Amino acid sequence: MLLEAHRLSKSFGGLRAVDEVDFTVAAGSITGIIGPNGAGKTTFFNLISRALPATSGRITFDGQDVTGLQAHEIARRGLARTFQATTLFADATALDNVLVGYRQRTKAGLWDALIRSGRLAREEREAEAAARDTLAVVGLADLADRQARNLTQEQQKRLAMALALVARPRLLLLDEPSAGINAEQTRGLIALIEAIAAGGVTVCLIEHQMQVVMHLCDRIMVLDYGKKIADGTPEEIRQDPAVLEAYLGHK
Ligand SMILES: Nc1ncnc2c1ncn2[C@@H]1O[C@H](COP(=O)(O)OP(=O)(O)O)[C@@H](O)[C@H]1O
Ligand SMILES: [Mg+2]
Repeated sequence: MLLEAHRLSKSFGGLRAVDEVDFTVAAGSITGIIGPNGAGKTTFFNLISRALPATSGRITFDGQDVTGLQAHEIARRGLARTFQATTLFADATALDNVLVGYRQRTKAGLWDALIRSGRLAREEREAEAAARDTLAVVGLADLADRQARNLTQEQQKRLAMALALVARPRLLLLDEPSAGINAEQTRGLIALIEAIAAGGVTVCLIEHQMQVVMHLCDRIMVLDYGKKIADGTPEEIRQDPAVLEAYLGHK
């Protein structure tokens, strides 16, 4: 398993936002996390990407215990994520946004900058090449010089994926990639996620559109009030009485 969570929990005061969740992501798979609003999905991503410390439980990534690592340390080991609300530098170009993503993960230190300007120049060229390649992967090659603020909502989502992808992660976490885009754009996004997975990146996504998860995912976990209430193939999840109950009960 590329990622394993063992009885992972997070409390905010008296609220158990994530409650003793066991979860695994197999290398090469696309795994989905669904559940009603407030079920703890984003908090769960925050725990496994180490953006938030867990209250209890354990996380392993590629067989190594990463429970105590900082977010940037787990990022360097190959875990990348996007956020539910897209976070871009609005005034910067698409290319510069991706370069920021690249530098955050490959940081040449200040000392390097001072004493090895030759190497730095080479690294700059490598960074730009990687950024342009990644823009092509997400379908934005022709928009490299456009300011992020002048991209459509859907293009901004693709750009956010490029930022996460540029350092070639092994595991990509996507928080509601289809939020705020229309049905046709969603089809394009599904094709992109399939292409990313086919390129060897393991994908885990939180998604509220049932047809998207059912179509894309090998396995799905369902959260409700912080607890895992089901875990299985799309077929199993579709027929699970606890899942139907959770969704109907919240309407
Ligand atoms: N930083 C926080 N402080 C306090 N409560 C939070 C915090 N983040 C999330 N919560 C609460 O935890 C629960 C789960 O939230 P969240 O993980 O965002 O759910 P989801 O992504 O499934 O909609 C909600 O009740 C939410 O209000
Ligand atoms: Mg959320």
